[in-house]
Amino acid sequence: MAAVVLVGAQWGDEGKGKITDYLAERADVVVRYQGGSNAGHTVMVGREEFKLHLVPSGILYPGKLCVIANGVVLDPQVLVQELDGLAGRGVDTTGLRISDRAHLILPYHRGLDAAQEEHRGQAMIGTTKRGIGPAYVDKTARTGIRVGDLLDWEEFEKKLAHNVVVANELLAKIYNQPGYDLRAILEEYAGYTERLRPLIADGVRLVNRALQEGRKVLFEGAQGTLLDLDQGTYPFVTSSYPIAGGACVGAGVGPTRIDKVIGVVKAYTTRVGSGPFPTEITGPAGDALRQQGMEFGTTTGRPRRCGWLDTVILRHAAEVNGLTGIALTKLDVLTGLEPLKIGTAYRYRGEISQDFPASLKALQECEPVYEELPGWQEDITGAGSIEDLPVNCRNYIRRLEELVGVPVHLIAVGPRRDQTIVLKDAF
Ligand code: GDP
Ligand code: IMO
Ligand code: MG
Repeated sequence: MAAVVLVGAQWGDEGKGKITDYLAERADVVVRYQGGSNAGHTVMVGREEFKLHLVPSGILYPGKLCVIANGVVLDPQVLVQELDGLAGRGVDTTGLRISDRAHLILPYHRGLDAAQEEHRGQAMIGTTKRGIGPAYVDKTARTGIRVGDLLDWEEFEKKLAHNVVVANELLAKIYNQPGYDLRAILEEYAGYTERLRPLIADGVRLVNRALQEGRKVLFEGAQGTLLDLDQGTYPFVTSSYPIAGGACVGAGVGPTRIDKVIGVVKAYTTRVGSGPFPTEITGPAGDALRQQGMEFGTTTGRPRRCGWLDTVILRHAAEVNGLTGIALTKLDVLTGLEPLKIGTAYRYRGEISQDFPASLKALQECEPVYEELPGWQEDITGAGSIEDLPVNCRNYIRRLEELVGVPVHLIAVGPRRDQTIVLKDAF
């Protein structure tokens, strides 16, 4: 199998970084296809922890071809910082390439993101304030500036001059915020251009050529299905398409090229930011799960809201992504919890529904229907095979597979590379 898409099946932070890093060893190319520096993907190599925001999680294998594809909104400030950070830790980043079609995040996108959040008041989305939404707004409004524009400075200057005026007007007149200085941005971005110039490439050709040559390509999703602009809990979503179809659009690859879609599923559910979350555990029990799972945001440090596994959202994820397998992560975090609960359906106005509703109001009214399963007490962080797992743990996995209708292919029992049980190879 040559093309595998890896997607988050919940609200992000499922452990995509760890699974990508694991699969990347066997892949020839790793591609990030959407989102931007709102993502925070943690990879542990031995005792060393890496937090990646823009660079694909395959970068930790020396020389591996890693592509930031056209669907990403790229903040060069973050990228340069990330590359410096990696270089400072001895990581070889020479394999990185950036698509000339990727859109740029500019300082006013970050300013607008923060101003719009403040303006929303109680209705705030809880964005990462990385400028993601405003950058995608410019892209769809057809006024965005692309990475390739950096290579034609006159063109870049012209587009930027126009966009800065519009952004400053918006900031001043609607949000009562100070504006940005065109000259200062030009100077700053001239520096990034010199730095990034050697990395800019035709990402579409790079990825398609690799596929034509029969090389193994791994598409690394950011965020998750429930944060997808169309399939998530709109409007409490991000502004891109994390679902598997997003890999085709975001990398310029035809759907017939994709062989497998792996959904990364955390053994329970978490969410950062606002919006409905039916199986959320509030109070001390939720706090305990947060501590046990160390559920604090990689990008913003915010505490993540925690809850039970919700198979209604996972069936939705299985459907809209066409999942062929599941990578189940953080199973070790459930050790000691008794009993375990799995959300199997929603009760809405007295009726039981198996389906995930589009209406936020309906979702807010949905009460989860739970099934209880006995937990396990044994430490599973050293388990090397499925047989090493306690029987109740295996039953939990089996029940998840039954309820979602997708087989589990990988199991993570800890953050390190070696804490991974493989039931079926992705490549
Ligand atoms: P991502 O955004 O999907 O890549 O996930 P994050 O990196 O934001 O959050 C996942 C966190 O869980 C990271 O701190 C990982 O190191 C950690 N992690 C991943 N898999 C496991 C696991 O199986 N067990 C435990 N205990 N931690 C894990
Ligand atoms: P990874 O790739 C979890 C959430 C934000 C907010 C909403 C919109 O690490 O899984 P945005 O800044 O994108 O406009 O914020 O989406 N969000 C994430 N939550 N993991 C992420 O990325 C996220 N990226 C964005 O918290 O609710
Ligand atoms: Mg994350």
